[in-house]
Amino acid sequence: MKNSKLVQYYMLGKGCFARLPELLEQREKATSLSGSVLVIDHFFQGKNILDLSFLSSADLVIWADTTHEPTTDYVDELADKVKASLPRPSAIVGIGGGSALDIAKAISVLLTNPGKSAEYQGWDLVKNPPVYKIGIPTIAGTGAEFTRTAVLTGPVKKLGINSDYSVYEQVILDADLLKTVPHEQFVYTAMDCFVHNCESLLGMQNDAMTIAMAQKSSDMIKEVFLGEMDHEKLLIASSMGGLAIANSNVGICHPFSYGLGYVLGLHHAFAICVAFNQLGEYYPEVETFKKILHKNNIVLPKIITDGITSEQLDHMAELTLMNEKPLSNAFGPDWRNVFGKDRVIELLKRM
Ligand SMILES: [Fe+2]
Repeated sequence: MKNSKLVQYYMLGKGCFARLPELLEQREKATSLSGSVLVIDHFFQGKNILDLSFLSSADLVIWADTTHEPTTDYVDELADKVKASLPRPSAIVGIGGGSALDIAKAISVLLTNPGKSAEYQGWDLVKNPPVYKIGIPTIAGTGAEFTRTAVLTGPVKKLGINSDYSVYEQVILDADLLKTVPHEQFVYTAMDCFVHNCESLLGMQNDAMTIAMAQKSSDMIKEVFLGEMDHEKLLIASSMGGLAIANSNVGICHPFSYGLGYVLGLHHAFAICVAFNQLGEYYPEVETFKKILHKNNIVLPKIITDGITSEQLDHMAELTLMNEKPLSNAFGPDWRNVFGKDRVIELLKRM
């Protein structure tokens, strides 16, 4: 039986981002350390969306470039920058989408553990407690604010730092921060959560708690996308989906998205949508997913076109099949007998 680590504190409510200075001040008093590191999605740079007037010269702001998903090299570079200017911050704050939140998690680990981030890609490889961290999502769906993984693309594979030490100590859920997300990205990211729920519910590694959370999360996503939009409800759905997936496992869709993402450089949530759209044989909820896209005026392009070489396809299939844990969650320990490379390539060609 698993022993599940959870976020210690969360704050929920429109406008609660304004409470961040108070939390940082409390932290400074408790640690007698001065200065925080804020890892903020570069989308916010130069825009007057976030009130950062509370920052002082003791704080360090890192504008995280999330054009591409975080690589181990990029995270190492940012961690070195933090070590050079503020090696013992009182807190690290991640503000943004899944990439910014994961970068902040990884930096907090690297400040107290030796070596490079690639050494911690895997399960439970982090030895020393990290710097205290606060996660503030500005898009709903990734679940990164509640999971114990920081997904990084390394030299050979895309794999998370999966550790109890990469769980945020504090999360701030402020629906007002979701207002500026571009429409397509907004829908794709929420669908990432919808897919997490489907994979968690149909997998073999769920339990009564994750089933309850994934079901409720799915119901709320359907309510907001097929009924009336409610940003706060979506943030809660994302949190519960994150909790469900963090304590169960993904299934067939995520392995495909990793292959597509790695070889073609697609963003995670978009790659998830492209893959899920063609997995109706495995997930009955693909029909609901299609209804949601249609209602929200989204037409998915075909990604695997004649321009994709057979070597690229082969590489994507290999990367998909490297995800042994998710595939065994979906099909059982003998998954290789029912889900081989030919089948993966056949499905990829439809995407
Ligand atoms: Fe995902």
